[in-house]
Amino acid sequence: MSTNQQPLTINNQPLTNFKIGVLGAGSMGSGIVQIAATQKHQTVLVDLNEDALNKAAANLKNILARMVEKEKIDQATADVILGRITFSKNISDFQECDMVIEAIIENLEVKKKVFAEMESVVSPDCILASNTSSLSIASIAAACKKPERVIGIHFFNPAPLMPLVEIIPAVQTSEETKNTSRALIDSWGKVTVLAKDTPGFIVNRVARPFYGEALKIYEEGVADFATIDWAMTEIGGFKMGPFTLMDYIGNDINYTVTETVFAAFYYDPRYKPSFTQKRHAEAGWLGRKTGRGYYNYAEGVEQPQPKKDEKLGKEICDRILVMLMNEAIDALFLNIASREDIDLAMTKGVNYPKGLLAWAEEMGLANVLAKLEHLFAEYGEDRYRPSVLLRRMVKSLP
Ligand code: NAI
Repeated sequence: MSTNQQPLTINNQPLTNFKIGVLGAGSMGSGIVQIAATQKHQTVLVDLNEDALNKAAANLKNILARMVEKEKIDQATADVILGRITFSKNISDFQECDMVIEAIIENLEVKKKVFAEMESVVSPDCILASNTSSLSIASIAAACKKPERVIGIHFFNPAPLMPLVEIIPAVQTSEETKNTSRALIDSWGKVTVLAKDTPGFIVNRVARPFYGEALKIYEEGVADFATIDWAMTEIGGFKMGPFTLMDYIGNDINYTVTETVFAAFYYDPRYKPSFTQKRHAEAGWLGRKTGRGYYNYAEGVEQPQPKKDEKLGKEICDRILVMLMNEAIDALFLNIASREDIDLAMTKGVNYPKGLLAWAEEMGLANVLAKLEHLFAEYGEDRYRPSVLLRRMVKSLP
């Protein structure tokens, strides 16, 4: 969790003196550079692709211009922020950086190559971080001569707006790298949580049932997209229903994350991907970005209306919720993160209305277990097995 007792210095250097490098000028890299430059750091943004660099520079200019328009900052401040960013095609420009955050394509072999290359140009103390969503930090670190300087620093999209950052030390990461990284990101006003180097870290693991169980409910013919979305927003209090959210994220991206997490968990049925989503992705119905996903976003198209049946809505909502709670409890059982950090991650990273562990207690742990046991008995599928920790928690209830 973020703390108010941030050290003002790291290695006797004021935090703001840290020079920050960012590799990859895509949506995440340019967002991270914007944060660092706004936080008064000299920054270097490197991308091999000149078009990507030009696009990032133009985007950043536009964002800052809009902030001036809205009177959030004045023109002089916008100029100073932009002036702190150097755009470059050359990795050797990271030479003077104290930390480099990598945000290039999600490919382990490419990332490993790039980390080895970066290590050959940076100083011996420079921290090398990856913004990967799904790859193992241990395997990225293994590509370096000093793996203890490597760590995962996982921002959420859009990085300047989303408060959560997952800090993921690999087995090789030193305490110093972990503490310095966390203190630095805390000093940027972010909410940091510490996560174990396991597939999906906290958020992308615990959130799987929000999509997976919703898709399964649809596939069984229990309800249509609009009704499931209505149940989760109106009854569950979520900002967006699962289908609206998948259309927003993109069915290609959301499907790939699910498939990656499924394989990384040695095909645990809890994370099984859905044919409905696969077909939507194959059809090019990716969501908002292609004008069609689970919903049709073309102008003038009437949106389907939910069946506002309270009893059905509550059944849908409870089924998805207990699966989410079970996932959060199992993450705690396996020491993926602390109880506090698991709840913070879901409220600050994906805007859940409540932390899942606190919510499970509110719903009644015995009640959550009973609902899961009912599903487990009815389906006979391992997917619905209650976490051992949930059973223990219920057993120890007064
Ligand atoms: P993107 O596709 O928008 O940008 C990637 C950039 O990296 C491109 O500009 C490309 O030219 C550049 N690049 C590729 N190979 C390179 C190399 N060898 N050297 C220098 N530059 C290179 O990707 P995006 O969405 O910004 O994602 C980047 C990373 O952040 C990935 O690891 C992704 O998993 C992670 N991430 C993405 C999130 C998202 O919602 N998009 C959220 C959190 C993490």
